[in-house]
Amino acid sequence: MMREYWMPALVSTELPAPDCDPVRVLLLGERFIAFRDSSGSVGMLSAQCPHRGASLFFGRNEDGGLRCVYHGWKFDVSGRCLDMPNEPAESNYKDKIRAKSVPVIERGGLVWAYLGSQAEPPPLPALEFFDEAPSETRSVHVFQLNCNWLQALEGDIDTSHFGFLHTGHLKNEVAPAGTFLRHMLEDRAPRYKVVDTEFGASYGAYRPAGNDQELYWRIAHYLFPFYTMIPTGLLGTTKTVTARVPLDDEHTLVYLASAGEVASDLAIGDSTYDGLKLLPNTTDWYGRFRSSRSLDNDYEIDREAQRNGRSFTGLEGVPLEDRAINESMGAILDRRHEHLGSSDVMVIRVRRRILRALRAFVDSGDLPPGVNEPDVYRQRSGGVVLPVGADWLTATQGLRDGTEAPTADPALAAGV
Ligand code: FES
Ligand SMILES: [Fe+2]
Repeated sequence: MMREYWMPALVSTELPAPDCDPVRVLLLGERFIAFRDSSGSVGMLSAQCPHRGASLFFGRNEDGGLRCVYHGWKFDVSGRCLDMPNEPAESNYKDKIRAKSVPVIERGGLVWAYLGSQAEPPPLPALEFFDEAPSETRSVHVFQLNCNWLQALEGDIDTSHFGFLHTGHLKNEVAPAGTFLRHMLEDRAPRYKVVDTEFGASYGAYRPAGNDQELYWRIAHYLFPFYTMIPTGLLGTTKTVTARVPLDDEHTLVYLASAGEVASDLAIGDSTYDGLKLLPNTTDWYGRFRSSRSLDNDYEIDREAQRNGRSFTGLEGVPLEDRAINESMGAILDRRHEHLGSSDVMVIRVRRRILRALRAFVDSGDLPPGVNEPDVYRQRSGGVVLPVGADWLTATQGLRDGTEAPTADPALAAGV
């Protein structure tokens, strides 16, 4: 079912220039060789040459195509065979042979691939982030996880872990009264509303906003098939989206994109990506965006920091904390042994939503949600304070779809 969606396959800078080195790309367990031809166009061909199966990774990227070094067959970005120099000159065999290729588009600094069944690929999802011009407040972070995409995604829609994994060491008073962080620290057991949407599902987690007339709501989304929008900052100001793209069932590339006013003076301390200690990419199928901190070295946990209250975990930074915990569950968590509580209501909702779409896809061939509706991806997430009794969905419609600008001071959202 996931094949029916456009998927980020690699970062454009992994193919930095025309005729640069080809890159091994694993996507949904399938092996491709990505290359940028002489004119700058990107192609993704099945890794094995259609002649006798040599890997095109060893190919020569030259003069408008990738040439297999075994017998010299050469293919363009669309898989067309341009040259078959070991066949007689009068042969038209090359016109009958194609390398398997998939449609690709470059957008928002990423190379997107379509592996789906429709003859004409659907439109790209209209994620607001990708309309943003490169700027100082626009960023994309990529890193690899040694676990299944869904268990990592479930961490994003489980907002109650924020008060423990990332901020469990913080005393309430570190956050100024009236700020979102203060509300969150004062009540670490929020209540939830969840709802199915045309793009997936949304939740609003709410708790008192420092008085009994108002509630602080954290509103966030799951979007088919593997996107989340987390409740960072002030609802309406930020355009964040995270994609968790399976390399295969047990390895995931996380693309974390954000733009807009993200209050970066995080009171919770080190929220940067430095803690992941990313390694230079290698050409291995699993060599992209790996980290030197892994389960093998316990993510270099600092037990002293954990003990003395500098950090709840002793792990360096929010992204590393999330990654370590996602991977610590094992490559694919056996959900039969879980005990879900009321804070897991969004996790439950999303699993049901995915299973329902999967059943309709398998049983009746129904295309899953969002494939042909790019505009449903125009969503924003974040925090907002509403009067007690206000309907969280109607009150935030314009902030969520970007038609209304927030009036609250973004400083209130610092640290969350
Ligand atoms: S295997 Fe590639 S040209 Fe023969
Ligand atoms: Fe987290």
